[in-house]
Parts: sequence; structure tokens; C-alpha cells
Amino acid sequence: MTTSFTPDEYKNFQNFLEQACGIVLGDNKHYLVSSRLSRLMRENSIASLQDLVTQLNRSISAPLRTQVIEAMTTNETLWFRDTYPFEVLTKTIFDEYKKDRKQNVRIWSAACSSGQEPYSISMAADEYAMHNPGFRIDVTATDISQAILSEAREAKYDALALARGLSEERKRRYFSAIGNQWQVNANIRSRVKFRELNLLQSYTALSKFDVIFCRNVLIYFSAASKTDILNRMADALNSRGFLMLGASESIAQYCDRFEMVRASTGVVYRLKAY
Ligand SMILES: C[S@@+](CC[C@H](N)C(=O)[O-])C[C@H]1O[C@@H](n2cnc3c(N)ncnc32)[C@H](O)[C@@H]1O
Repeated sequence: MTTSFTPDEYKNFQNFLEQACGIVLGDNKHYLVSSRLSRLMRENSIASLQDLVTQLNRSISAPLRTQVIEAMTTNETLWFRDTYPFEVLTKTIFDEYKKDRKQNVRIWSAACSSGQEPYSISMAADEYAMHNPGFRIDVTATDISQAILSEAREAKYDALALARGLSEERKRRYFSAIGNQWQVNANIRSRVKFRELNLLQSYTALSKFDVIFCRNVLIYFSAASKTDILNRMADALNSRGFLMLGASESIAQYCDRFEMVRASTGVVYRLKAY
């Protein structure tokens, strides 16, 4: 596929992508579109970006839509990403719920990619429970991509993926070698349930959470989508629940239902009391 598209066909593709999954594609991303879609288009004998958009807008094109969305999303992730959210979780949030004698803390990892985020949460809870017996959490982990969710459910990682953010001690404690890969142990996996969810769609089937991790996905969305998602996440939280965003993400101009909590290691957000 060529990297030069007509302005109209490129615009039509931008519109498709934003409506399908919220991702706002910049005007200068022709090369990215070309490199991510050329194989898929070749395999489906699609000659131009406009032909692709035409097929995507036909109702029978569901598998093609899935493939295009999966090709255009970025799944970059790592273990204990940015460190501080997991420290705030164990040093501040879990302590508060333990003091309140909460039976089970419900956590949502929205846009969980290949599983590093929800499994890091589960490992953090496991470490906390070593000193606080009886402490329990469950994690609902969602993503738009079926392909990345099946990788996450399998929970097998190669040496390269494992090296990103994981200490030797955690590797020894929480993984078992299988061939040239390492699989997350069953006790860590058992706290995490995966399901497919497009963040543009309704969250009501998930019921309420105490903590939401929504990290490194809103950066790709428009201001209107961010406002809509953050307001619906506020509805999906129990009273005074917590929200974690990515290190470079902020809430300020998008939603006024959260207050900033400055913990010693970083900033998290908390549903305001009404
Ligand atoms: C960069 S990864 C972030 C993973 C993890 N939260 C982290 O911070 O390491 C972004 C993830 O968002 C997912 N995603 C993109 N658009 C989405 C949407 N509309 N609904 C749900 N997930 C989406 C992608 O499939 C990808 O796995």
C-alpha cells in the first residue's frame, strides 16, 4: 500500500477509527496507517484505503473491523508500570479498606493490554496479604482487542517481556518456566477475570468498583470522549472510590467529579464526596 492517501479517503478512515474505538488519528499519520494496515489489506485483496473504509462500513464486515482496530491500537505495557500506582495501592488504598474492614476490594483494569497491569495489581495484593491475612481483592480486566485478551488469559511471557519492570524476586515468586516462556502462577491469575469491552460502550454490566486503573489509553481519545468516559467511570465507582491514570495523563479539564490525592509517591484521583 502507498503512504499517500487522498485527503478524503484519509479523513474517512480517521472518522471510522474514532467512531469505532475512540482513537483520534493525527493528520500526519499516513506512514503509521500504511505500515499497520498494508499486510491486512494485501491478505484481504483490498486495493485502497477508500475500499477498506467502504468495506468497514458494511454491516457484514465485523471480522475486518476487529482486525483493523487491533492493527491500529497500541498495546505497549509493562509490569508495575510507573511504580507509584502500585505503591499508593498498597501503602494508602489497601490500608484504608482494611481499616474499614472491607471484605473484598473490587478493582477494574480498563484497557489491560496483555495482562501486565492486572497481574501486577494481583501480585501487589498478594504481597499485601502476606502481612494482612484475609485481605482480598478481585480484578476485572478489560480491553477492546480479543487477540490481546487471549494473550493476557494465557499469561505466558518471553524473557524480553518479563524483563520490563519485574524484579528477580517477583519473577521467582510469581512465575513458572514453561519451555522458553514464563507463566504467571495460578494463585495470581485466579484473582483476575478478563472480558472484552470497548470503553466507548456501556459499563453497567460490570457493576461497581472501588478502584479503577485507566492508564495510557485516554491519551489517544478526543476531549469529548475523555469527558464521557471519565464521567461514566465516576458512575462505575463506589462512594469515594479511586481512579489511577497514566503518568502523563490528567483529568483537570475533562471531569470535575474527582479530587486529586497527593500520596508521597505520586498523584491519584478520588471520587468527590457529595
Ligand atoms: C498502551 S495500552 C495500555 C495498557 C496498560 N493500561 C498500561 O498502562 O500499561 C492501551 C490499550 O488500550 C486498548 N484500547 C484502545 N482503545 C480501546 C477502547 N476503545 N476500549 C478498550 N480498550 C481500548 C488497546 O487495545 C491497548 O491494549
